[in-house]
Amino acid sequence: MIFNIAVLASGRGSNLQSIIDNIENGYIPNASVKLVVSDVNKAYALQRAKKHSIESLYLNPLEFKSKKEYEKLLIENLQKRGIDLVLLAGYMRLLGNSFILQYKNKIMNIHPSLLPSFKGLDAQKQALEYGVKVSGCTVHFVDEGMDSGPIILQEAVKVCENDTVASLSERILEKEHIIYPEAVKLFVEGKLKVEGRIVVND
Ligand code: GRF
Repeated sequence: MIFNIAVLASGRGSNLQSIIDNIENGYIPNASVKLVVSDVNKAYALQRAKKHSIESLYLNPLEFKSKKEYEKLLIENLQKRGIDLVLLAGYMRLLGNSFILQYKNKIMNIHPSLLPSFKGLDAQKQALEYGVKVSGCTVHFVDEGMDSGPIILQEAVKVCENDTVASLSERILEKEHIIYPEAVKLFVEGKLKVEGRIVVND
């Protein structure tokens, strides 16, 4: 069986790229990125999709009456392509309940902090301002809350005294590009079980 993946991205799409690369080099077996969707017309993620001949779709939120309407069309597009797994990769919108219910425990997100610390925007800046000595990144399933779903994988990154938001973000991003493909691989291989909010990796 081939797992059909959709990636939702609003920006540069380096995490999308790491998923594509790890499928192409065989690290993630039996999977294919079928569709890349963006809510931002100029998102570089859409260009990356095109470079790899992956279908891409721009959905302008301003053209819809409500989030529900927007997500209805999104769900239709995913269903049409038989999507088994949805990856959020720098997707800057909170998903609505109908979407989350439709793909329960089949939506993953990557966040640039060790959750539950520093949820939401500017996680690296929040970490620096708080003065933590270790931060990192988290891959988690998406639930109805913000950055609150069951945690799949985390990787720690040391904070240095002279770190800026840019330098810390860069080091965290390197780890993101490792653990996101790893989480997808575990999912595709059927190795992830969700028990309440605990993800067991067998
Ligand atoms: C990453 O830092 C990710 O953790 C966060 O948004 C950023 C997206 O970067 N959710 P990219 O678009 O994948 O390069």
